[in-house]
Amino acid sequence: MGGMAGFMYRQLTFTPKPLPSSITLDGKTAIVTGGNTGLGLEAAKEMARHGISRVILGVRTVSKGEAAKSEIVAQSPNCDVLVWKLDQESFSSMHAFSERVVQELDCLAIVILCAGVKLLEYIKSENTGHEMNVQVNHIGTALLSLLLLGPLQKTANANPGQKTRLTIVTSEVHFWTRFEAKDAPNILARLDEPSSFGEGMDRYNTSKLLNILWLRELSSVLGPDVIVNGVNPGLCASTLHRSDTTPGIAIFNKIFAWSSEQGGHNLVDAAIQHATDQGVYISEQVVKKPSSFVLSPQGKQAQTKLWNETITLLQEALPGIDLLSPLLTM
Ligand SMILES: NC(=O)c1ccc[n+]([C@@H]2O[C@H](COP(=O)([O-])OP(=O)(O)OC[C@H]3O[C@@H](n4cnc5c(N)ncnc54)[C@H](OP(=O)(O)O)[C@@H]3O)[C@@H](O)[C@H]2O)c1
Repeated sequence: MGGMAGFMYRQLTFTPKPLPSSITLDGKTAIVTGGNTGLGLEAAKEMARHGISRVILGVRTVSKGEAAKSEIVAQSPNCDVLVWKLDQESFSSMHAFSERVVQELDCLAIVILCAGVKLLEYIKSENTGHEMNVQVNHIGTALLSLLLLGPLQKTANANPGQKTRLTIVTSEVHFWTRFEAKDAPNILARLDEPSSFGEGMDRYNTSKLLNILWLRELSSVLGPDVIVNGVNPGLCASTLHRSDTTPGIAIFNKIFAWSSEQGGHNLVDAAIQHATDQGVYISEQVVKKPSSFVLSPQGKQAQTKLWNETITLLQEALPGIDLLSPLLTM
């Protein structure tokens, strides 16, 4: 069942399950962006319960990250939790974060790119000049996915037969955008224009579609060692919805939303299970087809166009940083 009815049915009938207790993550290191709250924090807590040795919380406010660390350590005292500054509105912050990964981590098995915003009004990032949903959800996520490939590949090389993992947190709402910007001469430039913003959640929905187009193109150029996928956590109660003033939204969420902990189960499932499924979209803890647009020839065309535009934008934002060389060694 598709559309809104199917969405509501699944929210009411499916119960996200935690990782089976038999799975141990001992010896592994994970990064979770947006790990100070909501689904990212719950995913970090769940991996800690499964004995993960080290978790890096990538957070834009370190004090919030420290509070999250206390919560994780209170529950799992043996987990080494590191709180590192990461602002997806800042190219230099994201680059500095990745440099720290290269310099300070001896291994990296799991990355969950979870940080995101849902803004129903047009806001331009003062830092980068790009519309905020697109900046944080797509451009920031895309840059980090490239910057962290090298460490993931290095860990895979050191542990033959073991895949390393990168999960991008997308959403079922990617089905629900007309994505008119796909026909513009430059998709990302068009999305920066206030007149392209659309109504209600449309821009957020588009940013989650960009996540899927990006991860599909990325996975198509990767070798077999680093598995990239996208996860729909489902509608979950969290601070994501704080600026959503849609009439009735609080009651709707109260009826249909899962808890953040349940959303965390879905993230951890995508990042740990499904180890041979390259480039897939996971929803309700199974591999599902993304939207028919994504699978259409027009979707493929938009995917390639978005990839090329994003690479160009990122190379201009970080001149002198070779973003593509990790891909050549995979
Ligand atoms: N909750 C849902 O119903 C739902 C459904 C589908 C998909 N998702 C996706 O799930 C992910 C997590 O959402 P959530 O529900 O856990 O929301 P949340 O509780 O609002 O958490 C979002 C996280 O992203 C961080 N963040 C925002 N802007 C950032 C920036 N510029 N740089 C670095 N970090 C930034 C936030 O940091 P601060 O705490 O400092 O703001 C927070 O840690 C998002 O990608 C969202 O799109 C959520």
